[in-house]
Amino acid sequence: MKESGESMTMTMKDHDPEVLQTTGDSAWFTQDRFGLFIHWGLYSMGARHEWLQSRERMGLEKYSKYFKRFDPDLYDPHMWAELASEAGMRYMVATTKHHEGFCLWDSAHTGYKATNTPAGRDLLSPMVDAFRERDMRIGFYHSLIDWHHPHYTVDPKHPLRFDQQFIEESKRRDFAQYRAYLHAQTKELLTRFGSIDLLFYDFSFPEEAGLPGKGKEDWGSEELVRLIRSLQPQILLNDRLQTGGDITTPEQYMPKEWVKLNGKKVVWETCHTFSGSWGYYRDEESWKSVESLVKMLIDAVSKGGNLLLNIGPNARGEIDERSIDRLKSIGKWMKRHSRSIYGCTEAPGTFDCPQDCRLTYNPSTNRMYVHVYSWPFKNIHLKGFAGKVEYAQLLNDASEIKFKEGVVESSMIDGAYRESRDESTLMLSIPVKKPDVTVPVIELFLKS
Ligand code: GLC
Repeated sequence: MKESGESMTMTMKDHDPEVLQTTGDSAWFTQDRFGLFIHWGLYSMGARHEWLQSRERMGLEKYSKYFKRFDPDLYDPHMWAELASEAGMRYMVATTKHHEGFCLWDSAHTGYKATNTPAGRDLLSPMVDAFRERDMRIGFYHSLIDWHHPHYTVDPKHPLRFDQQFIEESKRRDFAQYRAYLHAQTKELLTRFGSIDLLFYDFSFPEEAGLPGKGKEDWGSEELVRLIRSLQPQILLNDRLQTGGDITTPEQYMPKEWVKLNGKKVVWETCHTFSGSWGYYRDEESWKSVESLVKMLIDAVSKGGNLLLNIGPNARGEIDERSIDRLKSIGKWMKRHSRSIYGCTEAPGTFDCPQDCRLTYNPSTNRMYVHVYSWPFKNIHLKGFAGKVEYAQLLNDASEIKFKEGVVESSMIDGAYRESRDESTLMLSIPVKKPDVTVPVIELFLKS
């Protein structure tokens, strides 16, 4: 484990003045860039989306079939951590409780927890330990929504939103008791598992079709944030409590550019699934290719952000083969290319990104990385790079890439050839054959 004191010093030293300062420690986060999201709960048994209770409008009685039979006998968190670490991921964010309300740890405030299922044990602690053993940072996802708590009231997301009897009963519920439960569980999560690096609450929403939404007043967000900061001042908090937060978390889409709030760049992370749903979904066929996934990671870093990629382990505790295959292939790419990801960020505006490429830049080593999405014939023209590059190589095998500064461009105007020189462009001479890697990267050692 890294000492938090060490990272706090880095925050001060390495902080980019263009980026909105975070209250929590974001220095490790903007270095590490790549994390694993884990969605695991009773919905893994339904194997058809983590929202199935709401989608199928299931009451508690019906949904209890899962609680009675949840028995992940093949659960091996060490294997999960190994896979993630070999894929090049540096942190994890695990669902402690999802919207269904089921808790993976042995909470003192509810009986709706893993210890009371056939699993018969706390499933969160061994996960935290296994990832820490791999030197990975630990994050908790915690659902603000709760479809099990006896004082959680009806809203547009609730499974029983169309049930008149429940709507009536809801009026007699005391939401303050749920709020107290939310705060008490937060306290447990931040006192029982050592130093937690990130907290991902999910989520606030507006009223809809005559039913009230829920937001910061309901969650008691301000008081909750005070509690969090008092227990773990270094923690990075996401933005779904409606009180700001350290990190902005666009979900299932790729931002066009560095994410901004009121015109100011922020620390951000986009979270994505392999196939569309977060929880294990047996019959889903819309799996992303390895190439898409690697490009999503590069895209995020090229805009100054992080990628949090999700797995939905099944109810026996295993990771889907389709996720394993993809994680291993991403790892193969990361083994040779992580230098263009860790510690990297958006390239300074003075460098133009060439066609079909993405740039990332490491300010500490002063190296630029050209990710070539579509391999062109023989040359890549880098506008604005002439005079700035000392040496160039392919990152996968450290083979030299020769270059020329200034290019002669000839064009035919009115039937006559004209030549013009472009002194600002640097021209790379690349092999005709694309290197046999998912996305080739050219590493440029810039002049100091
Ligand atoms: C959404 C969904 C949820 C998922 C989350 C991940 O808010 O409600 O199922 O856990 O996104 O960010």
